[in-house]
Amino acid sequence: MKNILICGGAGYIGSHCAMILRGAGYNCIIYDNLSEGNKAAVEEFILVEGGLSDTALLRETIKRHGIDGVMHFAALALVGESILFTPARLTSITEAASAAWSAAA
Ligand SMILES: NC(=O)c1ccc[n+]([C@@H]2O[C@H](COP(=O)([O-])OP(=O)(O)OC[C@H]3O[C@@H](n4cnc5c(N)ncnc54)[C@H](O)[C@@H]3O)[C@@H](O)[C@H]2O)c1
Repeated sequence: MKNILICGGAGYIGSHCAMILRGAGYNCIIYDNLSEGNKAAVEEFILVEGGLSDTALLRETIKRHGIDGVMHFAALALVGESILFTPARLTSITEAASAAWSAAA
């Protein structure tokens, strides 16, 4: 069975993706800092609480669960937040995503 790490997996898109992947025979591990999303939506999955920028935890999670693939849905997706975006905040989430991909490589 393939093990898939879903970053932002407690969110709307990520949690639905996890359910679809499970139905297709994949084992999903959820990685999410729960800044948004819904913990109850993924209670049937292993949930690792952590941020994208925590590369040490990401690496450990990938190793511990024998991850074969990573799907990335962690984002600041609320429409209202988009008008509050500052360049520093945008850089922060972009750098965090970049760190996540480095950990997965
Ligand atoms: N909802 C839609 O209809 C839709 C449509 C097209 C594309 N998208 C895109 O899909 C992605 C996810 O959207 P969504 O609607 O599921 O958003 P969401 O807010 O429901 O989910 C995002 C998840 O990411 C987590 N998260 C945020 N920052 C994090 C960080 N630094 N580290 C770890 N976890 C973090 C949040 O806790 C949340 O659970 C976004 O890029 C969005 O633009 C969404």
